[in-house]
Amino acid sequence: MGKSFDIGLERLTGIGVPGDGQPQEGGVKPPLPDVLADLKIGHYMDASGTIGAQPEMAVPQELTFYLETFGCQMNDHDSEKVAGVLLARGYRQVDGPEAAKVILYNTCSIREKAAQKVFSRLGELRPAASDLRQIASEEERSGELGAAATRAQAGVPVPQEPKHPSLRKIVNAGGGKIIGVLGCVAQQEGERIFERAPWVSLVCGSASYRKLPQLIAELEAGNRRVTGLDTDTDETFETEITRRDNPWRAYLTIIEGCDKACSYCVVPFTRGPERSRASASVLEEVRRLAEAGYSEVQLLGQTVNSYADPSARKMRFSELLAAVAEVRGIRRVRFTTSHPRDFGKDIVEVIEAHPTICDHVHLPVQSGSTAVLRTMARTYSREEYLDKIALMKAARRPISITTDMIVGFPGETEKDFEETLTLLDEVQYDSVFAFKYSPRPNTPSLKMADAIPEEEKGRRLAILMDRQREIQRLRNEKLIGETFEVLVDGKSRRENQWSGHTSSNRVMNFTSPERELLGDYVQVKVVSAMPNSLVGEMAGRT
Ligand code: 5AD
Ligand code: SF4
Repeated sequence: MGKSFDIGLERLTGIGVPGDGQPQEGGVKPPLPDVLADLKIGHYMDASGTIGAQPEMAVPQELTFYLETFGCQMNDHDSEKVAGVLLARGYRQVDGPEAAKVILYNTCSIREKAAQKVFSRLGELRPAASDLRQIASEEERSGELGAAATRAQAGVPVPQEPKHPSLRKIVNAGGGKIIGVLGCVAQQEGERIFERAPWVSLVCGSASYRKLPQLIAELEAGNRRVTGLDTDTDETFETEITRRDNPWRAYLTIIEGCDKACSYCVVPFTRGPERSRASASVLEEVRRLAEAGYSEVQLLGQTVNSYADPSARKMRFSELLAAVAEVRGIRRVRFTTSHPRDFGKDIVEVIEAHPTICDHVHLPVQSGSTAVLRTMARTYSREEYLDKIALMKAARRPISITTDMIVGFPGETEKDFEETLTLLDEVQYDSVFAFKYSPRPNTPSLKMADAIPEEEKGRRLAILMDRQREIQRLRNEKLIGETFEVLVDGKSRRENQWSGHTSSNRVMNFTSPERELLGDYVQVKVVSAMPNSLVGEMAGRT
């Protein structure tokens, strides 16, 4: 038996520690083992489905970009599309901000701590004081601040020549770079970002990404400041080229925005209203992905199962799921995140009928107390949620269930919290992402009475995580001796040691003497278990 090896996967999975990389309702972020770092090759697919290495030809230094992403899978995938847009314009992606002409941060504002990150990054790029004075005086002289934004929002055509040629110089402040803030903080803070960090030139929220090529063209033409901040759009962000970071698992947004109104959540403000993508376009992309060699697709949406086909076909979410599962070449279909209100028997039936649909559902509950769920405006009670869980537990094959929980919501009593703990025992989740409540701008819960002190939130979080860790340890131990199919996606630096994911999205670290397994599906027998991962030995190929 291979000795259990610690390649740092434990800390990346399972019980969510508040901080980065956590899912938004919109996705459990898959653990990315550090052993995968070597695999993050320049890998992209063009509109014809051709996979290629990122072009290494002589690209002028000024056409380079650096893109850093915070937050959920939706953001990760948006960044893949943003990178695609830039690659199509002849830009080359670089590893660090130093070598980049354009520096972009795709931001998350789901909790305060995540939102603060971008400002610390922007602080690192702060230009010298003399450059800052130059920015301020140019602004004053030109009245430029806000003008570009107004033009961009009004959809005025891209100017061929910079309106103020002298402003070109300013782009040089910050070391000759164009600095942009994308995503949820961009949407939330808008032009205030320019005030806080005048060296930023681009502010664009995710609901305006379809305008990105135009905004980038404006910057290239010499405009200093451009914004895309409207959310009142029916359109989704589809691109000709998407630069895909994972060579096996392809992400696909099928619904953007959120029409729910959970009282603690910024997403409806930052990502705008729900917009679904036509089913034919989704299926066409899945076919192209399969032809290009991707065997796993993950359908994404803040509330993925609220999908409403805008085309005449009017496919329900479960019908789309089934159609995706039937595409030739696709071996695994995942979807995240589901909202309990729109989760029905039809989804469970489709999972049962299609072995290619993974046996994992992420179904955020947020609290085990009906009283708290009501103040959160979650639109279901504890009992109604448990009815959905019962549908999954009754399925013909085991379905792994994971969730998100918030502790310390305003007014959460000790008794409410106790109900969250008993829910853990009752449901027996395979993984829980738990967070301390974080008050967010614009949200109704911001003004709610009976705030819980930070220390108490921390205490409750620790209790919840301890309880859940024990549940996971016992659940995983029961799997010892069983064999699972694993898609191999990581190779340890240690010889013969590999890692991958089961259909239920468990991390499996395993031994195999084979020389090359990355991207393969193999059978692995579990020999020992930890709360957040399994350890096994390869038992054969599939
Ligand atoms: N405070 C704490 N956690 C939050 N989440 C969303 N908004 C907040 C907030 N204001 C959590 C929810 C959601 C997950 C992605 O983040 O649990 O499902
Ligand atoms: Fe999820 Fe509610 Fe936020 Fe919508 S408002 S993204 S349903 S937590």
